[in-house]
Amino acid sequence: MIKVLFVCLGNICRSPLAEAIFNDKVKKLGIESYFKSDSAGTSDYHIGELPDERTIRCANANNIKIQHRGRQVNRVDFREFDYILAMDHQNIQNLNHMKSKYGFGEKEIYLIRDFVEGSEGQPVPDPYYGGEEGFHEIYSILDEAINHFLNTIQERHRIYA
Ligand code: 4NP
Repeated sequence: MIKVLFVCLGNICRSPLAEAIFNDKVKKLGIESYFKSDSAGTSDYHIGELPDERTIRCANANNIKIQHRGRQVNRVDFREFDYILAMDHQNIQNLNHMKSKYGFGEKEIYLIRDFVEGSEGQPVPDPYYGGEEGFHEIYSILDEAINHFLNTIQERHRIYA
C-alpha cells in the first residue's frame, strides 16, 4: 500500500481537492486498492470544517466526489505517509519545521508541481482570498500535476491495473 498525503495551509481548498482528484483517477484506473490517500493543513485554522464552498462547487462541476474534514498535519503523518506532497513553498517551510521538531528530519517532502517537467519549483497558488475562477485554475494545475505524479509512482512501484 502506497500512502499519499496532500498538504496545504488551511486544508479546505487545495489539498482536499487534490486528494479528491487523486482518488478519482486511481479509481478510474482500477488501481485504488494500491493506495491510501489523505489531506491535511499545516495550520489549525479550519480543523473539523468541510471544504470551502468554492472547493465543493469546483469538485461538483468536475464530477469529482469530495469528502473531507479539515485536519492539521501531525507527528504520525511523517511516519505513516510515503509521499507528502505540498502545494507551495510556505507549506514546505512549515513541514520542514514540523518534521525536525518531531524527529523526522530525514523525511523527504515534495512540491507537487516538481513532478511536472517544465513546472518544477512552481506553487499551486492559494485561491482562498481570490474569486471563483482561482478554483478552476487550481483544478487544472492539480489535474496535470497529479497525472504526472501518478505516472511517476506507477512506474517506480510497477503498479498497473
Ligand atoms: P488552502 O487555502 O491552504 O488551499 O486550504 C486556504 C484556506 C484558508 C486560509 C488560507 C488558505 N486561511 O487563511 O484561513
